[in-house]
Amino acid sequence: DAVERGEYRHYMQKEIFEQPRAVADTLESRIGPHGVLPNIFGVGGDELLAKVQGIHIVACGTSYHAGMVARYWIEEFARLPVSVEVASEYRYREVVVPPGTLFVAISQSGETADTLAAMRESRRRGYLGTLAICNVPESSVVREADLKLMTRAGPEIGVASTKAFTTQLTALALLTLQLAQQRGLEATRYADLCQQLISLPRAIERALALEPQVVELSARFIHRQHALFLGRGAQYPVALEGSLKLKEISYIHAEAYPAGELKHGPLALVDEEMPVVAVAPSGPLLDKLKSNLQEVKARGGELIVFAAGDAGMDAETGKGVALRLDPVGEFIAPAVFTIPLQLLAYHVAVLRGTDVDQPRNLAKSVTVE
Ligand code: G6P
Repeated sequence: DAVERGEYRHYMQKEIFEQPRAVADTLESRIGPHGVLPNIFGVGGDELLAKVQGIHIVACGTSYHAGMVARYWIEEFARLPVSVEVASEYRYREVVVPPGTLFVAISQSGETADTLAAMRESRRRGYLGTLAICNVPESSVVREADLKLMTRAGPEIGVASTKAFTTQLTALALLTLQLAQQRGLEATRYADLCQQLISLPRAIERALALEPQVVELSARFIHRQHALFLGRGAQYPVALEGSLKLKEISYIHAEAYPAGELKHGPLALVDEEMPVVAVAPSGPLLDKLKSNLQEVKARGGELIVFAAGDAGMDAETGKGVALRLDPVGEFIAPAVFTIPLQLLAYHVAVLRGTDVDQPRNLAKSVTVE
């Protein structure tokens, strides 16, 4: 066990640091200088994807958050309608399936009971086809899908998922690019998105270099009972994932909200006892996010902001702290901004002395309903 963990104290930390490699492996022989390579989803995959008119994504836990990011991407770049739902709801609901809809299951293990059952149920619901995004080639979800794109994260031991998530985002980014190109995304835009994706392993490496600063700020959370995470657009699911990581392994009650919803409830909770973590890359929603954060500051909330270096956030945090990341393209920003949130959850849990790799009451793979 100690040998496998090498220099790392926990599997989770090792797996966080394996992400540049895992993402690079997931891109390997799937994207080249001219874009996504043919039929990476399996034989006849491109032909089937060309017919897709809409997408239903189904998953659980962290995999569900990856699906939520993909909805923003696919709707923006491929202009296809996308719905995302947790498998335990999807399977018992009378879902309406418009003609030409693709069913996408996302699962690290490929054995999650609800996701598998949802996929089996989808067979009766008249989809165009099914696509599995999964980390385990011989798993049930992969065996039963028409098309598949394997993430190549390698074995993930820590119960709290890290490298599985960023490799799922990578696979979903490839799906987005394929769908977008088939639907006439402008060539220069397509080339720019491909370049961003190819640069993702390096960008993750640079984000990992922030670990010492994250260690420092994690001390602010040791005695906290609650934390609120905020993001907008594709960073909202990133905020959800950050809050899930924190609650899973540090046992701090954490919630995530789209920043625009702050006024509709969670603002009532904000006081000096409530740290507010915000993900703030540059982009068209930055000014709106800044004004949301002003509201937190005005109520004495402690702001912890992960911002692009060029976002001009330092002045916004008051007694809080802004941690700067290198600016990255908007497409890959969700994967990059996930990294400091994983590191934050990890180091808060270490400081609180919890069983990081095996949090109480949770299982790596939930194979019974
Ligand atoms: C469990 C794990 C999570 C995981 C979820 C879905 O809750 O603890 O880390 O995200 O299952 O698992 P899957 O293997 O389907 O991605």
